Amino acid sequence: MTRLLLLNGPNLNLLGTREPDLYGADTLETIERRAAACAREAGCELACFQSNAEHALIERIHQAPAEGIQCLLFNPGAFTHTSVALRDAVLAVRLPLIEIHLSNPHAREPFRHRSYFSDIALGVIAGFGTLGYEMAVRAAAQHLARAPRAE
Ligand code: DQA
Repeated sequence: MTRLLLLNGPNLNLLGTREPDLYGADTLETIERRAAACAREAGCELACFQSNAEHALIERIHQAPAEGIQCLLFNPGAFTHTSVALRDAVLAVRLPLIEIHLSNPHAREPFRHRSYFSDIALGVIAGFGTLGYEMAVRAAAQHLARAPRAE
């Protein structure tokens, strides 16, 4: 079975109450549940992990290959714009990455325009709110169905 890992970075545990005009009213639990259902429909299994700590996200990424994870779906939150260490972790495990954002960072403050992940991602889904997570699951499933698994 194709295994995907959905990672969410800092402050995304507060979805539902955090700046709902920007990020919507759904909680992370709801988003994860919908994404998992979408993964099942596509014949995949979705593991989910959120942390406010850079090191915890790095360690989760390091574990991914040993768990048979084949693709990372990642909303790095503010680490998008700051974290060379998370970028290096993704490169180290050599797993395909889909970058997700609820908002469109390019339509926001200039400091959100730089991402340490976009140039190493298969693709970036931004600005579609919670739908972006389901789009990312579908994109990952289709990509993996086409690309033979790298051993
Ligand atoms: C975000 C965009 C980031 O700039 C911000 O720091 C977040 C959320 C998004 O999903 O739109 O925490 O990643």
